[in-house]
Amino acid sequence: MAVLPIRKYGDPVLRTRAKEIEPSEISGLGALIDDMVETMYAEPGVGLAANQVGVSQRLAVIDLTVGEEPGSVHVLINPEIVESEGEILEEEGCLSIPDFVELVSRPERVRVTYLDREGTAKEMWGEGLMARAICHEIDHLNGVMFVDYLRGMKKDRILKRIQKLIKTGDWY
Ligand code: NI
Repeated sequence: MAVLPIRKYGDPVLRTRAKEIEPSEISGLGALIDDMVETMYAEPGVGLAANQVGVSQRLAVIDLTVGEEPGSVHVLINPEIVESEGEILEEEGCLSIPDFVELVSRPERVRVTYLDREGTAKEMWGEGLMARAICHEIDHLNGVMFVDYLRGMKKDRILKRIQKLIKTGDWY
């Protein structure tokens, strides 16, 4: 297992729609999944999408306990939100945009379908932080990042600060 480098805002792989994973490919993903989980725990974070480690495939891992409770990691392959309810405005951050958090509106509950690491079709309801994490990671797989939801001065301010960090070489 290995901790992988996290791609940061500005990297084109984060803006590319990740590819669907064929069922025949799933058995070959074990090492990547293990590395993604280790990377998520090392950061630490509650979720990680494959394109954040440079792999443009529809795969994400989520663990709200950040490894504190065994068996609480969710591996989502080709995840899709099929139903959502409610709306909550909460602070949100991203390992690809380190040290920035902003208020982002997300559904209160989502129902997601996906394949697990064995390739078995699953579905679950996520609520609160889990709903937020599911939406955030699926956004990544679609090339969307949380700053895209910001508007006006808030957005200008965060993008300017990131551009400054990129310029001074403090970002990558
Ligand atoms: Ni993120």
